[in-house]
Amino acid sequence: LDAESWPTPSIATRALSRLVNPGGAPSAEALRAAVVGQTVLVTGASYGIGEAVARRLAGAGARVLLVARSADRLEQLAGELRAGGGAAEAWPADLCDPDAVAALARSLLEANGAVDVIVNNAGKSIRRSLALSFGRPHDAERTMGVNYLGPVRLLLALLPEMCARRRGHVVNVSTIGVRIAPGPRWGAYQASKAAFDIWLRSVAPELELEGVATTSIYMALVYTRMSAPTPSLRRAPGLTPDQAAGLVARAIVTRRRTLAPWWLLPAELLSVGLRGPLALALRLAVRRSADTESARRIAQEFPR
Ligand SMILES: NC(=O)c1ccc[n+]([C@@H]2O[C@H](COP(=O)([O-])OP(=O)(O)OC[C@H]3O[C@@H](n4cnc5c(N)ncnc54)[C@H](OP(=O)(O)O)[C@@H]3O)[C@@H](O)[C@H]2O)c1
Repeated sequence: LDAESWPTPSIATRALSRLVNPGGAPSAEALRAAVVGQTVLVTGASYGIGEAVARRLAGAGARVLLVARSADRLEQLAGELRAGGGAAEAWPADLCDPDAVAALARSLLEANGAVDVIVNNAGKSIRRSLALSFGRPHDAERTMGVNYLGPVRLLLALLPEMCARRRGHVVNVSTIGVRIAPGPRWGAYQASKAAFDIWLRSVAPELELEGVATTSIYMALVYTRMSAPTPSLRRAPGLTPDQAAGLVARAIVTRRRTLAPWWLLPAELLSVGLRGPLALALRLAVRRSADTESARRIAQEFPR
């Protein structure tokens, strides 16, 4: 299943989406004022939210540097953005590969000096039961690689220049999942997203003293190829990639420390206060749900 296979949301789902995901993109003028002439690195720019972010920022006058593994898609997107009058460059790299990340950071700094904004968006999600995960420690390794270790390596190489110039902004596309009770089958994904979220929140005060802002966006469901294979999400209220990109744009304009749906804090408090009953509810939920067809197939076709 890919992003194109999402069913068209009903009017009711769209109305519910507005309710659970209020707020939205800043005005075109505000975004242009914030990013025109700025160099913005967008990881995970070949698909989904990252691609939409790159389009939106390039349209507002930013110079976008596009990172992901799919070199062909990045080149095509960069070409399209340049043809539309924007400034865009493809910088293909695998964030799971420490040498590739080091080489990327070196070349980026040589070519551009410091970047102004880093949108840490590349990500890998896995939904797989424990039973299908036996013998698959690489699920944890690769989610940690792209969701945590790769971004940390990249930032540790790029932040010194930002700190030296005493300006810059790191925007992290996090998930509501790291702030509520962790759902079964999402362990590898949630743990790696939580690791980066905590790392960034931990270094944020030090960065602020150096003049570098951070924003953690706690994104709810977005209709992309990442979420498409999970049947339970297919009728749930969510955002289009372009709407999600609007939130990233809002983060860049406001430089707020966090952006989250209004209901996340109450849900987080309930997750802590009702930990016992929630554990029971999740046990029942596991019994009533199953691994997706693709999770089963992949576990059979690519065992370790
Ligand atoms: N979709 C949702 O419901 C949702 C909700 C909350 C948070 N998020 C977060 O939003 C972010 C974007 O997700 P999405 O929904 O847009 O997913 P997506 O459409 O699957 O895009 C993921 C992006 O990450 C890149 N990527 C994956 N592995 C990589 C690697 N090893 N090195 C470099 N780039 C890599 C992919 O490009 P290549 O395959 O070309 O490398 C792609 O551009 C993720 O961090 C995700 O955790 C998503």
